[in-house]
Amino acid sequence: MGRGRRLMHGHCERMDVPMKKQHIVLGVTGSIAVYKVADLTSRLVKAGYVVDVVMSKAAQEFVQPLTFQALTHRPVVTEMFTLHSEMAVEHIALAERADVLLIAPATANIIAKLRHGFADDMLSCTALATRAPIIIAPAMNDRMYENPVTQENIRVLQERGITFVGPGEGYLACGTMGRGRLTDVLDIYDAVKMVLGRRGDLAGRKIVVTAGGTEEPVDPVRCITNRSSGKMGYALAEAARDRGAEVHLITGPGSLRTPYGVRLTAVRTAREMLAAVEAATRDCDVLFMAAAVSDYRVAEAAQEKIKKSAGAPTLELVRNPDILASLTGDFVKVGFAAESQNLLANARAKLTSKGLSIIVANDITRAGSGFGTDTNEATLLFADGRQEDLPLMTKARLAHIILDRTADL
Ligand code: PMT
Repeated sequence: MGRGRRLMHGHCERMDVPMKKQHIVLGVTGSIAVYKVADLTSRLVKAGYVVDVVMSKAAQEFVQPLTFQALTHRPVVTEMFTLHSEMAVEHIALAERADVLLIAPATANIIAKLRHGFADDMLSCTALATRAPIIIAPAMNDRMYENPVTQENIRVLQERGITFVGPGEGYLACGTMGRGRLTDVLDIYDAVKMVLGRRGDLAGRKIVVTAGGTEEPVDPVRCITNRSSGKMGYALAEAARDRGAEVHLITGPGSLRTPYGVRLTAVRTAREMLAAVEAATRDCDVLFMAAAVSDYRVAEAAQEKIKKSAGAPTLELVRNPDILASLTGDFVKVGFAAESQNLLANARAKLTSKGLSIIVANDITRAGSGFGTDTNEATLLFADGRQEDLPLMTKARLAHIILDRTADL
């Protein structure tokens, strides 16, 4: 135990799933992409959302309502007037119950109907009657999408505050290549979380997060880097987005999917990261430095590939700038420390020398902790001397706890 007060873990911790059951009304219209939305529905249900599916007549030509009923464990709404319905005026009940109305896949037809306020089926009635935010994920032939009428409909709906996610570009069911395919379901899933979190406790806050390892060139082929995957930083960026923050993620090279709704700047070297972080923190509230920044770079990287026939090369290394230590401004600085020995002493020294409010110390020798894993075990050290030991948990959940403690400051 350090000198500080030890906080008990397990109280008021946020989960990476919604605490209160939130209600999604999912409108499904007639497109071959309906089958992808079955996967999306399953993800939403697993994450703890209550999902009520409304299917248009055309959607039922592609997939049976039974598919969605089995996934949601709830009746699927297909008719405007059903005598056996539990609700007298079902479209109003659905409209009021919704925390968000998601339409995916959304055809050109439903987009046109929404723009003009038609109410001739269950989904368009619900859309007209709801005060919940609406998200539309279009899916259609590229020419239908590019048609000025569709483009104008989308623009008008966007001006009314409706969020559009996608469409994506690529191979279309009609055999052509173009823009119009349903976007990645993970992006739609993220858009739901982002829209539901818009009025969260970080609404209006600007947050900069760094992630991943930097890469220092040795020659055009080789580089000095480290084992950071970026998962911790990306988890923080997504968690902050889902609580209403405007997030700028600055990341070293990696293979992680760009999170929806997050501004991303890709960098390679420590000096590139410094320049990007300097610019991004000019008007931010908090900087989270989860990146593993290379402390050294090769003094002069070779212009051509170093040949082994020339013998073992000697590399002269010079210090990189310390990004966290060099930045000052009217924002909170939260750092990370990945250590293999003397975890707390080393982390505390960094907390002080870099002028941080919090440092997240992770012991990389522990199983499931540190580089590349989906989980992490960390101790939070605060500038005022407090210490909070946290158990092994997902990086997503740890991200929420770090945000909770930062928001408390
Ligand atoms: O990306 P993952 O695979 O998910 O792994 C996550 C992680 C282990 C990389 C992450 O949780 C973590 O601990 N990141 C910090 C890695 C580290 O060891 O940092 P450091 O002890 O070298 O530096 C301390 C702090 O100063 C860090 O916030 C670092 O971003 C910052 N720093 C370091 C060097 C430098 N030149 N400039 C800096 O700003």
